This record gives sequence, C-alpha cells and structure tokens, in this order.
Amino acid sequence: MTATPAAGADIAALYAQHIAICQTRAERALGLSGHDALLIAAGVEKYAFLDDRPYLFQPNPHFKAWLPLCAHPYSWLLVRPGKKPLLVYYQPDDYWHVPPAAPSGFWLEHVELRVISEPEQALAQLADQLPADLARLAIVGEADAALQHLQPNNPAALIDSLHWARACKTEYELDSMRAASRLATRAHLAARDAFLAGGSEAEIHRAYLIACGHTDRDLPYSNIVGLNEHAAVLHYQYQDVQRPAQWRSLLVDAGAQVNGYAADITRTWTRGDADSAEFDAVLAAMEVAQLALVDEVRKGVDYRDIHLSTHRHLARILKQQGIVAMSEEAMLAERVTSIFMPHGIGHLLGLQVHDVGGFMAGEAGGTRDKPEGHRYLRLTRDLLPGMVVTIEPGLYFIPTLLKQLRAMPAAASVDWAKVERLSRFGGIRIEDDVVCRAEGAPENLTRDAFALLG
Ligand code: GLY
Ligand code: MN
Ligand code: MN
Repeated sequence: MTATPAAGADIAALYAQHIAICQTRAERALGLSGHDALLIAAGVEKYAFLDDRPYLFQPNPHFKAWLPLCAHPYSWLLVRPGKKPLLVYYQPDDYWHVPPAAPSGFWLEHVELRVISEPEQALAQLADQLPADLARLAIVGEADAALQHLQPNNPAALIDSLHWARACKTEYELDSMRAASRLATRAHLAARDAFLAGGSEAEIHRAYLIACGHTDRDLPYSNIVGLNEHAAVLHYQYQDVQRPAQWRSLLVDAGAQVNGYAADITRTWTRGDADSAEFDAVLAAMEVAQLALVDEVRKGVDYRDIHLSTHRHLARILKQQGIVAMSEEAMLAERVTSIFMPHGIGHLLGLQVHDVGGFMAGEAGGTRDKPEGHRYLRLTRDLLPGMVVTIEPGLYFIPTLLKQLRAMPAAASVDWAKVERLSRFGGIRIEDDVVCRAEGAPENLTRDAFALLG
C-alpha cells in the first residue's frame, strides 16, 4: 500500500505552488503560439430550448485549472507574463438565485481582483490590461462566451501545449484528488450497504449521495447504479425506483469532486451467497487481474500496452473460469475478449472525468493511434510522473454482443449455459484512480482511500 499524506495538508502552500506552475505553463504556451496574453472565459449559462431553465453549468476546464471556482459563469481570468492573474469576478445582485459569495479562500491573494455585477461590465474592467494589438490576445472559451466583440480564438498551439502539460498533476491537484477519493470511497461502502439492505437503484444512489455529502449537481458525472442485468449496461443512465425481486449484483460507477477535481471509481458487489458463487469466482479473478494492471502504471510505459495486457488477462480468465474453451492466443486473434470487454482500460482523470489530451503525440499536438480494433480506448500516451489514469477492466455479459458472439466461429467453444447463468449478474467492472510516480510502484488513490476506512 502506498503512503497517503494526511488529510488537511497545507492547501494554501500547495495552491501557491500550483498557481505558479499554471503561470509557467501559460507563459510557455503563449510563447509557442505567439500571443502576449491569455484570456480565459469561465463560460456562460445555457438554456433549454424555448425555456427559461438553465442546464447545469459546466465551467470551462481551463478556468477551473487555475481557480477552485466551479459555479461562476460570466467570470474571466486574464493571464499576462510576469504579472499576477487578473480575475474578473461576476457577482450579480440577484434575488432569484444565490449569487456567488464574496471572494474568499486560499486562492484569493494570488489574483488581482475586480468584481462586476453585470456580464457587460467585464470588457471595461479588462480593457486597459489587454494587448494593444488584439490579434496578440489568446481567448480560450466556447463560441458563446464572447467578450462582446472579442470572440474566443482558441489558438491550437497554445491549447495543445496546455493540454499536454495538464496531464501531469501538481501536488495541489493530487491533494484534491486524494480528498475526492476519500469522499467517493466512503459513499461506495454506503451504496454496498444499501444494496445488502435491499434498496432500489434509486435508494442506493441516494445512500451514495448522503455518504459523500454531494447532491447530483456536485457529481463529476452521473452515477451509474446498476442492479443485476443492468450491470451489463456500460453507462446505465437510469435509477430504477422499483425494488427488484432479487438482489444478485450491484455495479456502482460513481465519483466525487473536490476543488473541481474528480474521483472516478467502480465497484461490483454481490451478496456472497451460494447463488453468486460462480459469479464471485470470476469477480475474484478480475480483482487479481485489476491489481496486476494497476501495477503496470509506471513511468515510460505505453498505456496502450496496459490495454493490450488487459485482454491477455481476460483471455486467461475466460478460459480458467470455463466460459470459453479456446486457447488464449486464439481468443485474442478472434477478438473474443472484446465481446466481454468492449471499452478501453481507462483514461486520464482530473478536471474532467475523461480529461483532455489522451491521444496527443507531443506538446505540439499530433495523434497517437489506438491499437487496431480498439476504438474505445481513450488514452494512447506514454505515462509520465504525475499523470493520473484510471485502470478499469471489465467483464460483461451484454446481450447484443453475445448475439454477435453466437454468429462467430468461437461460439462453438462457449459454455452458453454458464454464460446464461452469469448473465443474471450483468457484469463486472473494477475501477481505481492511479498516479504514475517518478520511481517505482504507482500510488493508488482509490485503494488508499478505502484502506483509510478500515
Ligand atoms: N465513469 C465513466 C468512466 O469510468 O469512464
Ligand atoms: Mn467510472
Ligand atoms: Mn473511468
């Protein structure tokens, strides 16, 4: 088990170091793209068609990379070489909603602050600080987040440089992700308990939220809470309010966030009784394989190789468990393992649950291809110290893919009666968040956080 710094590490000191790194990265990116200043839009509220209800606000990740401000539409950050960042902080005088609180916190002393109460005031607050030649201003944001006549231009060279760098987390970011992991693991255990107590998917979801102190608005992605056959739906999007007739298995893929940084964790549970024994044997084999795959997260490793290694583990498990009676080599050659795990082994994690930059060939962009036939892999880079990736192998019994398998030559080697019995449990996914270190074994944010719970 890896060492985890105690909760409550000096966040102010870590943040000071973090924002200095953001500044260095931004100055480098500006140099590469040939711009004099970087203006970042927090983003704007978006409304349902023909309606006055906004969707849940999703901040520009470039904005929350600098500041732990996730619910601040119409704010702006101006970054200039050699100067403190200038934050234009939108705080409307609004009695319909709760406006953002007066600025405070560990981040405040690191910015020059200007408060506005109308979005239209932003340009006047920024005007005297912008480059005289506005062509030398990089504006990062969505098209609808224009600063009046100044449209976001999102220079590719600047964005590429920032996205490349962002994969490697600062100590502040790791600290935030450790905290998110502590919230999420506590909630996963509450979800398991609600399952064992006979809850519906909706009740299990509510138990999860209560335990991590989040509402749905705070989650880094919508919780996946699947009982029985629903565990076979990779991104199962509903939560059944009806209790099932039987509680065989539960797959929960759910996270938490702290300072805008996500945890992304999956656990699969059963009742551990006689009925689940056959499925539990597969689950135990997947647990061993998952830990071995986590251990492959090392500096310099090509993440694509971890994905391919996963398929070798799956072939071995399918054979050893008596699900597919073929040689492991033949299973891989005929893509049988992809029927049982039709997704990638994982992705970069951070400000976004699927963090950007996963396919980049280098700081200047370009693409590193996915292995042939593995179109859903989301990360193809070599691992660097400080990268946080998920390791999330799965083994599912997905009706539509099993139908495909029935039409393949491999079908003759499948124990279909066993597949039918296991299908009642849906499937397995085990997902940990893992930090690549400069030396040696990785830090497992998820297992460390579970270990703290005893
Ligand atoms: N929660 C989505 C994923 O694991 O990628
Ligand atoms: Mn997940
Ligand atoms: Mn994931």
